[in-house]
Amino acid sequence: MNCSSALFRRLVAGAVALVALPGAPGLGLGVRDAAAASHDTQPVTESGGRGAPRLGRGAPSAGGLGGIDSPPINSVARGKYILGAAGGCGCHTEKDRPKHSGGRRYDGPFGTVYSTNITPDRQTGIGSWTGDQIIAAIRLGRRPNGERLLPVHPFPVFNGMAEEDLHALVAYLRSVPPVNRENQPKRITVPLFESVFLPAWLVAFAPRETPPPKAPTSGLARGEYLVRAVGHCGECHTPRTMTMATDNSRFLAGNPNGPEKSAVPNITPDPETGLGKWTEDEIAYYLGTGNRPDGDVAGGLMSEVIEGTTAGYKDMTREDLLAIARYLKSIPPIKHKIGKVSAVNPSGR
Ligand code: HEC
Repeated sequence: MNCSSALFRRLVAGAVALVALPGAPGLGLGVRDAAAASHDTQPVTESGGRGAPRLGRGAPSAGGLGGIDSPPINSVARGKYILGAAGGCGCHTEKDRPKHSGGRRYDGPFGTVYSTNITPDRQTGIGSWTGDQIIAAIRLGRRPNGERLLPVHPFPVFNGMAEEDLHALVAYLRSVPPVNRENQPKRITVPLFESVFLPAWLVAFAPRETPPPKAPTSGLARGEYLVRAVGHCGECHTPRTMTMATDNSRFLAGNPNGPEKSAVPNITPDPETGLGKWTEDEIAYYLGTGNRPDGDVAGGLMSEVIEGTTAGYKDMTREDLLAIARYLKSIPPIKHKIGKVSAVNPSGR
């Protein structure tokens, strides 16, 4: 590939910035801190900050560290569980608007896109799509008409989800109340972005997860599956390379320039700069409640994915939260110091 072309480099910069904020409420949305978010003067006021609630202490949700022993089997309930394990698919919910009805705005050098309505409304949502079409959009980034989704929706990562979980997720999405709300057209300002640049970037740089034949049900494999695919932790916690693809050789080592230009902590087991000093129970408890071992609470985007929408990380079983914690303890420790992050010091970088 001819990387010396200035146009190509410009395109790379565009896409890359786009993917920098993947699944995420990134792209400058001001959700660093719940309190700060409501006063945020960032350009995306309409969707800026779903008011990511700061999670209070001592209020584990019913499902959180509570009593469920295993994820539900019934497919709608299981789909809701998967949605929770994916952080509630919160990018598709805009503050003060019906859940899952889209409209949240993401800006990047490529232009502006809005998340889409994923309720089963036949006109404006995904009600007329077949299950396979919905699954193709989730993991291949293709709409039924062939149009590409921008990887602001992290389909290369969701490609690692098991078929059965995707079907359950579809069953759940079909069960939520349909909301009639038109999608907002995207505005791409970089020429040839979707036809030329994006496909090339995806092939050359975007790491793509491989789906397992069946969703692992226990042990490290379960934790790895939840972290790498469903929970898409790396979209925020893995640093990016020059091309802005996630640098999986430093998986989960923290991203100093994460979504919203705020620092996302190193969650490898490095004792100085990562989670080395947290016990597995402390990690699981944090994911289920937002409460940190030092007495502080999760803020910013992390509180959003823990809280979720109709479900969030907090609704995972204790077993699954511990599987995640164990997996995090098993990956290579990487020394990578990330500045103090928002929970303690909202302006810290
Ligand atoms: C949408 C972006 C995003 C996603 C997805 C995400 N995180 Fe986070 N995470 C953050 C941010 C931002 C913080 C810092 C929170 C704060 O400031 O309080 C954080 C903090 C944490 C912490 C506390 C670390 C510390 O040193 O304070 C842990 C543990 C953690 N995340 C684990 C996970 C795991 C495990 C997943 C996937 C199951 C995940 N995160 C997914 C953005 C994200």
